[in-house]
Amino acid sequence: MKTGIKVSVFIFLTTVCGIYSQLSCTYYDKQYYGYACNLTITNPTGLNNFKRISGRHLSGKTNNDVKYITSNSASFTTIVPSFICKTFKNLTSIELRSMGIQHVDENAFKDCHELQALDLYNNKISRIDEKAFENNQGLATLYLYQNQLSELPENVFLNQQNLITLWLDNNYFTSFPKKEFAPLKSLNNLDLRGNRIRNITDDSFENLKSIKYLYLQSTQIEELPKNVFRHLKSLSTLSLSYNKLKVIHSLGFLPNLTEIELSDNQLQAVDEKLIDNTGVNRFSFGGNLCANFVITDNSASRALLRSGLQNCFNKYNQEFAYETTTPDTTTESPSNSGCNSTNLNKRICKLEDDNDGFNSKLEDLQSQIQYLISTTEDLEADVENLTEQNQELAEEIDKIIGEKQDLEEKFSAAIEELRDQVEELFSFISSRGDI
Ligand SMILES: *[C@@H]1O[C@H](CO)[C@@H](O)[C@H](O)[C@H]1NC(C)=O
Ligand SMILES: *[C@@H]1O[C@H](CO)[C@@H](O)[C@H](O)[C@H]1NC(C)=O
Ligand SMILES: *[C@@H]1O[C@H](CO)[C@@H](O)[C@H](O)[C@H]1NC(C)=O
Ligand SMILES: *[C@@H]1O[C@H](CO)[C@@H](O)[C@H](O)[C@H]1NC(C)=O
Ligand SMILES: *[C@@H]1O[C@H](CO)[C@@H](O)[C@H](O)[C@H]1NC(C)=O
Ligand SMILES: *[C@@H]1O[C@H](CO)[C@@H](O)[C@H](O)[C@H]1NC(C)=O
Repeated sequence: MKTGIKVSVFIFLTTVCGIYSQLSCTYYDKQYYGYACNLTITNPTGLNNFKRISGRHLSGKTNNDVKYITSNSASFTTIVPSFICKTFKNLTSIELRSMGIQHVDENAFKDCHELQALDLYNNKISRIDEKAFENNQGLATLYLYQNQLSELPENVFLNQQNLITLWLDNNYFTSFPKKEFAPLKSLNNLDLRGNRIRNITDDSFENLKSIKYLYLQSTQIEELPKNVFRHLKSLSTLSLSYNKLKVIHSLGFLPNLTEIELSDNQLQAVDEKLIDNTGVNRFSFGGNLCANFVITDNSASRALLRSGLQNCFNKYNQEFAYETTTPDTTTESPSNSGCNSTNLNKRICKLEDDNDGFNSKLEDLQSQIQYLISTTEDLEADVENLTEQNQELAEEIDKIIGEKQDLEEKFSAAIEELRDQVEELFSFISSRGDI
């Protein structure tokens, strides 16, 4: 009787554990990628002591041929079992989506030295160990979007010099993880949309020098310091839609920036120099509060900005592409609120526009003159300094010449004295010789 119970308990346990903790692969050839495993993980309690991955290889294939792991919607696990990378050492791509992973520990990808792409989309990851990616120097793409991350260990990307794409959107970050990004020398594409990042500081972006695509929409940003984008010399697309911006300053010198999204903020003021030194030809302004914008200058970038701002109120028509064209100065200025269709108004407005245009050119000239004056002053100070230094040097040379003369005099006096002594000596010797 007792043995019977023991046997059935044993059978029960092995059955339950067998069901509730297993790894298996359905192997197949994935188009364009190569030999792949369609992985089923059943591991709700987060065990990490797997000894076997069941499943039959296609003929002629072995574990070392597996390049790609795709996830399987039947899976559930709270960790990434390290046995996967121990088994398939040549994996270049791992996709473990939507399977309840909570924690990425330091052994999870330790044995995947060839890993180039890792996709952990839509799990419940709130914790990543500092050394989780230590052995994945070749990692180029990392998807961690739609998880529960509010922070990262400071050195988590220490070996990710080759990472190009990092998607961290729809997590719980409340501040911009600036330090963590410092090693990412090749990072090109960063997505942080849908986090709760309110504060952007003056140096938030200083570690993103190679970034081309920066996505910060829906992050509750209220203000951006002036010149905050100054480090992003490669920036090409910037998205700031669905934030709480009230003001946007000039973007500064970003020649490679071609697209900026600013729709659905609370913009009331837009710096008329916003896109002056950029290559922006595509932007969105819909869904803002922008009343009373008056941009009078008719340079190409200002005219472009003006035409974009016409759509500020239009929530349902947010995407516009504008070609940079020579502005047509004969038509009325659309954003100059006083300018409408009556002929007289038109002419007055045009005159006002012209006047404003001249005024702003005058201002430009004045500031250039100011600049020249201050440069001249600097140069004058330099010349004065050099003259002073020159005089000091001349005095020093005089001093040295004087010292040299002194020494020469002393030297001749000494020689003279020596000569006298020698003569004395000779006369003494000759007087002795006489004796
Ligand atoms: C992976 O396995 C699951 C479950 O067996 C199956 O539904 C799915 O179609 C498989 N996917 C591929 C790409 O073979
Ligand atoms: C990885 O694959 C290459 C060929 O693609 C092979 O030469 C090498 O032995 C494999 N590595 C391992 C650990 O099997
Ligand atoms: C972020 O903004 C909040 C509210 O404006 C402020 O209290 C906090 O000090 C700021 N944090 C940083 C790091 O600047
Ligand atoms: C700007 O774009 C050009 C053309 O695509 C490219 O050659 C150049 O390297 C880019 N500049 C920077 C700083 O990325
Ligand atoms: C044109 O502007 C004048 C003065 O600002 C205003 O009184 C008038 O109603 C405007 N007309 C139209 C058609 O908007
Ligand atoms: C003159 O030049 C020296 C050396 O470059 C510098 O240390 C000094 O500050 C300068 N003085 C003035 C008044 O510019």
